[in-house]
Amino acid sequence: MNLRIILATLCLSLCHLASTLPVEDNAKRDVFVPRILYPRAGVVWTVGHKHNITWDTSNAPVNISNGAMVILRKAERGLPLIMAKGFDLRKGRVEVKVPWVFPDSDYSIVLFGNSGNWSNNFTIQGTL
Ligand SMILES: *[C@@H]1O[C@H](CO)[C@@H](O)[C@H](O)[C@H]1NC(C)=O
Ligand SMILES: *[C@@H]1O[C@H](CO)[C@@H](O)[C@H](O)[C@H]1NC(C)=O
Ligand SMILES: *[C@@H]1O[C@H](CO)[C@@H](O)[C@H](O)[C@H]1NC(C)=O
Ligand SMILES: *[C@@H]1O[C@H](CO)[C@@H](O)[C@H](O)[C@H]1NC(C)=O
Repeated sequence: MNLRIILATLCLSLCHLASTLPVEDNAKRDVFVPRILYPRAGVVWTVGHKHNITWDTSNAPVNISNGAMVILRKAERGLPLIMAKGFDLRKGRVEVKVPWVFPDSDYSIVLFGNSGNWSNNFTIQGTL
């Protein structure tokens, strides 16, 4: 099976999970769904450059039981890409390299916890 189809399916099921999980349950199981601080709306990234994705760690539980992953999404005609995986959510940042994707202004980041949280849309531009 095509990897991109698997990723798209994975994202769909995770997105569904995100909308069905009650918040109270999350707290009990030490899971953490942080608010993304960067990238914000209006940010422009360039292909090949490195950036720190950052999030709010002020409500982080002592032990975090869920895995960490960052996905790059595109609103229109795009497939999700995994940018980083298995990092420590308590650090509040993960450095990523912008992959070779089509330049556009409808990219966003999804940060997982056990359910995802979305950044605003931002732009990725190509190199000259
Ligand atoms: C996800 O992010 C939104 C907007 O930044 C924030 O209001 C919300 O609290 C976050 N969700 C959780 C579960 O922390
Ligand atoms: C990301 O943050 C780390 C720690 O603050 C810093 O050493 C690194 O240079 C940053 N990376 C970028 C691309 O800004
Ligand atoms: C966190 O994990 C450690 C080691 O597994 C354990 O000793 C501690 O009780 C846990 N703390 C909480 C608040 O769950
Ligand atoms: C991002 O852009 C898409 C379409 O261009 C739009 O549907 C979506 O609501 C936007 N997301 C945010 C968080 O603004």
